[in-house]
Amino acid sequence: MVKLCFHVSSISHFLCCVFVSSFFVKTLVSQPFPRPDQIEILLAFKNEFPILKCDFRKWSDSKQKTKSWTSKDVKSFDGVVFDNDTGVVTKLDLLGACLSGTLRANSSLFRFHHLRYLDLSYNYFDSFSFLPELSKLTNLEVLDLSYMGLAGEISSSFSSLNRLTHLTLSGNELIGLTNCSINKFPTFIKNLQKLQFLYMANNMLKGEVPKWLWSMPSLNGLLLSGNSLNSFEGSPIVVLNSSLISLDLRISGSRIIGKLPDIFDTRSSLRILDVSHNQIAGKLPMSLTNCTNLEVINVESNRIVDLFPFWLKDLPKLKVVVLRSNMFHGPIYSHQHPLSFPQLRMVDISRNKFTGRLPHDYFVTWSTPMIGTPREAREPLYIGDDYSYRKDSRIYYNDFTGHIPSSWANLTRLESLDLSGNQLSGKIPHELASLSFLEYINVSHNKLSGQIPQSTQLGGQPKSSFEGNLNLCGLPLQESCFRYHTPSAPEEHHLKPPKREQVLNWKAVAMGYGPGVLFGLVIGQVLYSYKPVLFYKLFRL
Ligand SMILES: *[C@@H]1O[C@H](CO)[C@@H](O)[C@H](O)[C@H]1NC(C)=O
Ligand SMILES: *[C@@H]1O[C@H](CO)[C@@H](O)[C@H](O)[C@H]1NC(C)=O
Ligand SMILES: *[C@@H]1O[C@H](CO)[C@@H](O)[C@H](O)[C@H]1NC(C)=O
Ligand SMILES: *[C@@H]1O[C@H](CO)[C@@H](O)[C@H](O)[C@H]1NC(C)=O
Ligand SMILES: *[C@@H]1O[C@H](CO)[C@@H](O)[C@H](O)[C@H]1NC(C)=O
Ligand SMILES: *[C@@H]1O[C@H](CO)[C@@H](O)[C@H](O)[C@H]1NC(C)=O
Ligand SMILES: *[C@@H]1O[C@H](CO)[C@@H](O)[C@H](O)[C@H]1NC(C)=O
Repeated sequence: MVKLCFHVSSISHFLCCVFVSSFFVKTLVSQPFPRPDQIEILLAFKNEFPILKCDFRKWSDSKQKTKSWTSKDVKSFDGVVFDNDTGVVTKLDLLGACLSGTLRANSSLFRFHHLRYLDLSYNYFDSFSFLPELSKLTNLEVLDLSYMGLAGEISSSFSSLNRLTHLTLSGNELIGLTNCSINKFPTFIKNLQKLQFLYMANNMLKGEVPKWLWSMPSLNGLLLSGNSLNSFEGSPIVVLNSSLISLDLRISGSRIIGKLPDIFDTRSSLRILDVSHNQIAGKLPMSLTNCTNLEVINVESNRIVDLFPFWLKDLPKLKVVVLRSNMFHGPIYSHQHPLSFPQLRMVDISRNKFTGRLPHDYFVTWSTPMIGTPREAREPLYIGDDYSYRKDSRIYYNDFTGHIPSSWANLTRLESLDLSGNQLSGKIPHELASLSFLEYINVSHNKLSGQIPQSTQLGGQPKSSFEGNLNLCGLPLQESCFRYHTPSAPEEHHLKPPKREQVLNWKAVAMGYGPGVLFGLVIGQVLYSYKPVLFYKLFRL
C-alpha cells in the first residue's frame, strides 16, 4: 500500500517535472528575443525625436509610440516587432507616432537592415532628404509613406526595393512633373516585379495613366483616385487584360471624357464597375452582360444617353445599380422584360429622363434580399476596399405623382427610402410602419397628408424628412393629428372596402415639362460597412 502510494507520488513528480520543463522550453523559444544592438538602435532613433508633436486633426489615433521605448522589456516597445528566432527588428509601425522635426539621412532608422515592414504615415518631417536612404532597407516588403506632406518627385532609388509588395504614397503632393509627360510617372515602380498593391491616391499626378502599369506582373490593386489623371495611354483593352483585381481611378480635378468601350468579354472577372463623376458619354456598353460576376454598377453623374438597361437582369450577382444623374430616358417598365434581381440591395435611378408608368408592385417583385423575412439578421454588404455610397441630400427634381403604394411594406428589408421632392399625395401607408429595417426615409416636399405612421423607425427620423408636405401630422412633426382626424382612424381604415391602389406614375411630357420628365427614386439598402473583407475587381474611372 505504502509502496504504491510512493510510486504514484513519484510518477506525479516526474510528470510535473516534464510539464514544467517543457513549459520553460516552450516559453524561452517563443519569447521574442531582441538583439541588444537592435534595442540600442531603437533608443538612438527615439532620441533623434525628443519633441513629439501629435496632429490629431490629421490622424485622430495619433500616439507617442516611441515614449514607451524605455526598458529592455520588449513588450513595451510599441509598434516594434522582433523576429522570434533572430531578435532583429522586422516591423516598425510608426503610423501617427507624432514624430516631427528632421528625419536625417544618417538616421538610425536606416540601420534596421532586416526591416520588412515600415509604416511612417501621418508623421510630418521638415525635409525629405531621407527618402533616398530608404533604398538601403532592401528587405522591405511593405512601405507606407502616406499623408506625410511629401512633395515633388519620389526618389527613383526606390527601385532597389525589389521585394516590395505594398507601396502606399497616398495623400502627399507628388507630382509623377509640371509638364507631366507619361514617362515622369514614377517609373521606378516598373522595376518592382513583386509589387501587388500601389496606393497613390490624393496626389497631384496629371495626364495619362501609363500603359506599363498594366503589364506589371504582380499588381493586383491600384489606387489612383484624387489625382488629375484624365486618360489612358494605349488601348483600354490592356487594362482588362492585366493582373489587377482592384482599380480605383475616380478622378477629382479633370475627368475621364469619352465612351466606355464595349469590349467586355466572358473572361472578364470584373466585380465592380464604378465610373461615377466623369464625363462619359454614349451608351452603357451592353457587353457588360458578359461580366456575370458584376456586383456593382455605378455610373452616377455622367452624360450617358441610353434607354433603361433592361439587360442588367442577366447579371445574377448584381447588388447595386446607380444610374443617377445621367440622360437615361424612356420607360423603366416593359412587359417583354420583366425585371428581377435576385441579389439587388440598392437601386438609384434618380435625376434621369425616364418617363412612363409603373405597376403598383413594380419594385416589390425586383429583389429577393429586400423582401426576406424581417427576422433574418441584417447582413452588412462588404464591397471592395472602400467602396462607399454617399447619401446625397440634393433635392431630386422628380415628378412622381400618385400615392405611395402600400405593397412596399413587402420590402421588409428595405433600409433606405428617399422619395423627397416629388408630387406624391395621399397618406403614408400605415403598412410602412412595419418596415423594421428602415433606417432612413425622406418623403419631404411632396403633397402628403394625414398621420405619419407611428413606429420607432418613422418617428425617430429628423423632422426634415417629412416637412414641406400639405397636411402631414404626428411625430416627428409638431403638428398634432387631432385637427385632421380622430384617434380611431386606423379602425376606420379597416372598415373601408380596399380601394384599388392609385399607383405612382410619372407626369407625361404633355404636362409641359419639356422633352422628357426628370424623376428619381432612391430605394434600397444603404451600404453600411466598407471593410476590406472581400476583394473585388474594382474598376473606377
Ligand atoms: C513570435 O512570438 C510571439 C509570442 O510568442 C507569437 O505571438 C508570434 O506569432 C511569433 N511570431 C512568429 C512569426 O512566429
Ligand atoms: C547626423 O548628421 C547631423 C548633421 O547632418 C549631425 O549633426 C549628427 O551628429 C549626425 N548623427 C550621427 C549619428 O552621425
Ligand atoms: C515644359 O516643357 C516645355 C517644352 O518641353 C518647356 O519649354 C517648358 O519650360 C516646360 N515647363 C516647365 C514648367 O518645366
Ligand atoms: C493579354 O494577355 C495575354 C496573356 O497574358 C497576352 O498573350 C495577350 O497579348 C494580352 N492581350 C493584350 C491586348 O494585351
Ligand atoms: C460576350 O463576349 C463574347 C466573347 O467572349 C463576345 O463574342 C460577345 O459579343 C460578347 N457579348 C456582348 C453582348 O458583347
Ligand atoms: C405582399 O405580401 C403579401 C403577404 O405577405 C402578399 O399577399 C402580397 O401579394 C404581396 N404583395 C406583392 C405586391 O408582392
Ligand atoms: C430630406 O430631403 C430634403 C430634400 O431633398 C432635404 O433637404 C432634407 O435634408 C432631407 N432630410 C434628411 C433627414 O436627410
